[in-house]
Parts: sequence; structure tokens; C-alpha cells
Amino acid sequence: MKHLDDMIGERKADHIEICLKEDVQARQATTGFEDIHLVHKALPEIERKKIDLSTTAFGYKFSAPIFVGAMTGGTQKAAKINAAIAEAVEELHLGMGVGSQRIAIDNPKLEQSFSVVREKAPTAFIVANIGGPQLVSKYGVKEAKKAVEMVQANALAIHLNPLQEAVQPEGDTNYSNLLQNICKVAQELEVPVIVKETGAGIAAEDAAMLDAAGVAGIDVAGVGGTSWAAVEYYRAKARQDVFSQRLGETFWDWGIPTAASLVEAVKSANLPVIASGGIRNGIDVAKALSLGASLASATYPFLEPATKGSEDVKKALKYLVGEVRNAMFLVGANSIQKLHQVPVVVTGKTAEWLKLRGFQPEVYARRKA
Ligand SMILES: Cc1cc2nc3c(=O)[nH]c(=O)nc-3n(C[C@H](O)[C@H](O)[C@H](O)COP(=O)(O)O)c2cc1C
Repeated sequence: MKHLDDMIGERKADHIEICLKEDVQARQATTGFEDIHLVHKALPEIERKKIDLSTTAFGYKFSAPIFVGAMTGGTQKAAKINAAIAEAVEELHLGMGVGSQRIAIDNPKLEQSFSVVREKAPTAFIVANIGGPQLVSKYGVKEAKKAVEMVQANALAIHLNPLQEAVQPEGDTNYSNLLQNICKVAQELEVPVIVKETGAGIAAEDAAMLDAAGVAGIDVAGVGGTSWAAVEYYRAKARQDVFSQRLGETFWDWGIPTAASLVEAVKSANLPVIASGGIRNGIDVAKALSLGASLASATYPFLEPATKGSEDVKKALKYLVGEVRNAMFLVGANSIQKLHQVPVVVTGKTAEWLKLRGFQPEVYARRKA
């Protein structure tokens, strides 16, 4: 019998290899950012190089409203990836999430693949990570605190991945009473607790429940970027598990598109909301912030650079930040505060979705005061 840690380690290694080699992005589904239009200003009346991209969220001052999403830990390769991202975000005064720390909570020998992040990034914004399903089955406040301590985190993310779990034959599909446990962790922890999805989005109803449960922030991680049904499709195919493979294919594009999910969360929870899921360039980031996101995050775009080293991650982050600056120049916003207030036009399927879900056009382009 294989030890559970070995199985999780293998699964984590599979995830990285599959994401590097196969096409794991949404196919027909899109983020909806193509329906969001920033209004070009021929008279920006500001100087591009004087634009201030800094912003404060979760008590941390970011040099730009960007962080690298939760990805990995637990293996040697993961440690290298984490170290490369950490060095880059430290230098640029940004932030990052580590991947699920379950494997190291259960086996402290593997802690270094996570704690390396704090060694390489003593001052960056670091987000610890545990899985929602583990809070149902065996984890509680103690393990959540352990995850935070392991990386001396600024915040803890609790990830929700019902789609992925539902496509994995070994998946953890008991989500009963999870909210109650999230509430307990949010009350007891000294750092902010952020609840994040992993690529299928968070609806208005769930965002309101998370707000009532006392969490400090929501990361929508909507559909349009990395698909976990796709990742599991490839794992199922490799072991000739026909039913799981079929589930992965059928549910490949399942979820709430990121732009719609973002507006749903911003309008239903009085909390900082992070936009993620298919954020691929600085225009996406600028659009997300204009719709009320406090920060934006991307994960997949940093995987390959991180396998090469911190210089590549830094380059990718610098391009992204440079694009945000350019978009801000072109809408005449010289601060993040101003970017939150620029006019936004919402068209197409996203406008239709939001209307059918009860959000009026005159309000959905504005964050709560
Ligand atoms: C290789 C890989 C591993 C991931 N592992 C985790 C994880 O352990 N915990 C988590 O909360 N999210 C994890 N995610 C999900 C991301 O944090 C993010 O929510 C999702 O990939 C959508 O963003 P993207 O389209 O920019 O990739 C992982 C993503 C990738 C690509």
C-alpha cells in the first residue's frame, strides 16, 4: 500500500507535468473580459511614468495590484518553483500564494518546499493554503494555524475545488458544513482568511454567505483560464479510467466566467475581492480593477517561467505590470483609486448574464464605497 503522502506527492507532480505539457486551458468558455470595455481617453491628461500603481490590501502595500496565485509545494521541483516565484515577488514588492499545504501538515519533512518561500521573500505578501474539503474531514483551527506558521503567511487561503474533486476518482466530495468550519477558522486566526475558488468561480449567493461567515476576502478564480477538469482528464486518460476521463471532458468548461463572478462577488460581499481565473495580461487586470477587484492574480502564466528561474518570473511580472500602467495611462487613471472609478461598458454574454442575475448595468460597474 502506498503512503498517503506519496500519493499526494505524485498527484502534485502529475499536476505540474500535465500543466506544462498539455493544453489545460478552458476551451469554449472565456473569462468574459472580452465583454468588458474600458473607455479610451484621447486626452488622458496624465503622465505615464508618474502613474502610481501601488495599493494596499489585506494590510499589505503592494507595488502593483498583482500577485502570483497558489500553485505548488511538497516535492523538490515544487520547492524550486516556489523559490523562483518568491525571489521575483520579493524584488518587485508583490505577493504569491503557495499550493495546498496538506502534504506538509501531514508530513513535516516536506515543510521546506513551502517555507523556502519566506526564506526567499522575507517581506513579500505570502498566502498560506489549505483545502476546504480537509476542513470538513480532519482539519481545524490547529492545522490552519500550522499552515500559516509554516510560511509566516500574511493571509490564509482556503481553496474550494468541488469541480476538481468531483472529476477525480479519489476526490474528496464531502462539502457538508464546510461554511461553519470556515467561519471557525476565520474567527480564530490572527491573519486574514481569504476563500478562493480554483477555476470555476464564486456566485453572488456564496459570496454573501462567505461575507456573513466572517472571511476577510474572496478570490473568485472563475472559468476562462486553467481548467481543473482538464487537468484531471489527462490524469484519468493516463490510467485508462474511462469514466473520469469522460467527466473531465464533459465538465472541461464548467463554471462562472471570471468577469461575471467578479461582479457577483463585488456586489454581494462587502469585502476585498481578488480577480483571477484566466487573467493573462495587463488589460485584464485593469478591467478587473475597474469592475471593483482589489487585486488580480494569475497562476498558470508563471508556471513555465518558474521552472526556469526567478529572472523569468520577474520578466513575466514586469511585463504584466507594464501593461497595467499602459492601460491606466490610456484611461487617464494615475492611481489605483482612479482606476476603480473609470467608466466601463459591459456588452455581450456578460451583460446578459448580469442582467438575468439581477444586477443592473448602472450599478455593476461600480464597487461598493
Ligand atoms: C499547477 C497548478 C497547481 C495549482 N495548485 C493549487 C493549490 O494547491 N491550491 C489552490 O488553491 N489553487 C491551486 N491552483 C489554482 C490556481 O491558484 C488558480 O486558482 C487557477 O489556476 C486559475 O488561475 P489561472 O487561470 O491564472 O491559472 C493551481 C494551479 C496550477 C496551474
